[in-house]
Amino acid sequence: MRRYSSIVVLTGAGISAESGIQTFRGGGGLWEGHDIEEVATFDGYVRNPRKVLSFYNDRRRDLRRAGIEPNAAHLALAEFERNHPGEFLLVTQNVDDLHERAGSRELRHMHGELDKVRCQRCHQVYSSREDIEPSTQCPWCMAAGRVRPHIVWFGEMPFHMDEIHLRLARCDLFVSIGTSGNVYPAAGFVELAHQRGITTVELNLEPSEGAALFSEGHYGPATTIVPEFFARLRQT
Ligand code: OAD
Repeated sequence: MRRYSSIVVLTGAGISAESGIQTFRGGGGLWEGHDIEEVATFDGYVRNPRKVLSFYNDRRRDLRRAGIEPNAAHLALAEFERNHPGEFLLVTQNVDDLHERAGSRELRHMHGELDKVRCQRCHQVYSSREDIEPSTQCPWCMAAGRVRPHIVWFGEMPFHMDEIHLRLARCDLFVSIGTSGNVYPAAGFVELAHQRGITTVELNLEPSEGAALFSEGHYGPATTIVPEFFARLRQT
């Protein structure tokens, strides 16, 4: 394997599956038991704030369950980043905090974070692990009932897109891990990289929607294939 000077890694729910966090699609996925329109759109929130807030309160509590820890795949990425002499950016679609708990530093949560909330009146974003209720008061502007999860819902613009596009435009390796490739703009990153002729690698349990666009694919559980791939990359 050749040495790469600028690497962008994209992760999805599959990297956290073996830590005990539910994925979204497929058998037993979150979207099997919940209607996306109802719990993951702004319209759904306006129609029934209690239902939407309760869905994300449950997700936040799931994350704090005993035994939910970063797994070997999260740890392998953090270790690789610590030792990589070039640029490294980890972009995650995940709203859990397992990458930061594993020690990743250059990390962007494009779909938001479960442990952050924001006030729709004063726009302050702040860390909070408390449940959000329809009556929750913003500690900054004191408005009640305007606090929402700092999560990107369907139809909303993901975070950090300018920086992500800049980094995709100059990277020489793009690696996609544990994502089904169903949700844009993340699902389109491989296409951007592919058009530039750079090396694109998919690490997933099974080939994703965009599998044909990757120059290389390794399939299996993330806790096996991610440490293996990044160990090989380090030896180059
Ligand atoms: P999905 O649930 O759509 O896909 C998870 C992917 O991980 C699938 O391709 C699985 O095959 C793979 N997978 C499952 N277990 C794995 C394991 N142990 N090792 C490796 N791969 C495994 O999740 P995402 O692609 O992340 O957005 O979903 C993208 C977005 O859709 C999410 O960020 C969320 C969701 O709706 C919003 O809520 C805005």
